[in-house]
Amino acid sequence: MLSLPLSAFESPARHRAISDIIRNRSTNPADVRDSVLAGLDLSSARAVLDLGCGFGFMTEAIARRVARDALLVGVDACATNEQVYLARVAATGRAPRFVGQRIEHTLDWPDRSFDLVVASFALYFFPDVLPEVTRVLTPDGLFLGVTHTENSCRDLARLVGLPEFDARLLGLIRNFSAESGSDLLARWFTRIERVDYENSLVFHAAQEDELRTYLRFKLTLLMPDGKRSGELPTALERAAQRLAREGRVVLAKNDVAFRCRQPRCR
Ligand SMILES: C[S@@+](CC[C@H](N)C(=O)[O-])C[C@H]1O[C@@H](n2cnc3c(N)ncnc32)[C@H](O)[C@@H]1O
Repeated sequence: MLSLPLSAFESPARHRAISDIIRNRSTNPADVRDSVLAGLDLSSARAVLDLGCGFGFMTEAIARRVARDALLVGVDACATNEQVYLARVAATGRAPRFVGQRIEHTLDWPDRSFDLVVASFALYFFPDVLPEVTRVLTPDGLFLGVTHTENSCRDLARLVGLPEFDARLLGLIRNFSAESGSDLLARWFTRIERVDYENSLVFHAAQEDELRTYLRFKLTLLMPDGKRSGELPTALERAAQRLAREGRVVLAKNDVAFRCRQPRCR
């Protein structure tokens, strides 16, 4: 399995700025969180586990839909997310808890501890934890896995013109993508419902800085340390030149949520 430096996620402020760029440049007017949670009644959820919770983007939306006394636990390898996560979830009036831990194969909670487990844009970093997800879920619990399409990743790689980046990005996302997700999840859940969120990001010439910031974030995550100094400026320049030439850059940004029920016994 590809082992990645997670420095891109160590600054919650920077990560949130990327999240804001995505929202502001999206052609789909709906918030992805509203789309993937649409129609779910979470009012009886008592305990929620968010794996790779980051600064609390998805937990925040879930918190508003669960009981006031529900427990919301976020786990993330970057401990720098703790304060922002706690503040963001507490602002909804719910009780948050944060665990700074790198997830691999195991989870530290007893069987049937959570009625909702979520991994939003994160399970591809630690797909081997799925058996443990089924263990810590209650039998009537819900697992929500949100991820990217492989096509969206290819679009990004084409823009920056780095075949090696393309291979690394796809290598990561294929661990749990819109395309691979159903087969992977079918081993662990009996009922799987797929929700598609179709979207593109459009950057106009006036938004060159935003495009550069967005690409720098994505590239830094997947570029080997030694390559950063050389290839990054070239890749950003290539994208900026296309923006200047064509007046706008459109990137596919299609996401998919898998809502999984009836965990299979191990
Ligand atoms: C793309 S962000 C998604 C954050 C959040 N779930 C959201 O929807 O905005 C991926 C998150 O997973 C975390 N992460 C990556 N690998 C991890 C691991 N092995 N264990 C715990 N957290 C991890 C990163 O630190 C980062 O915060």
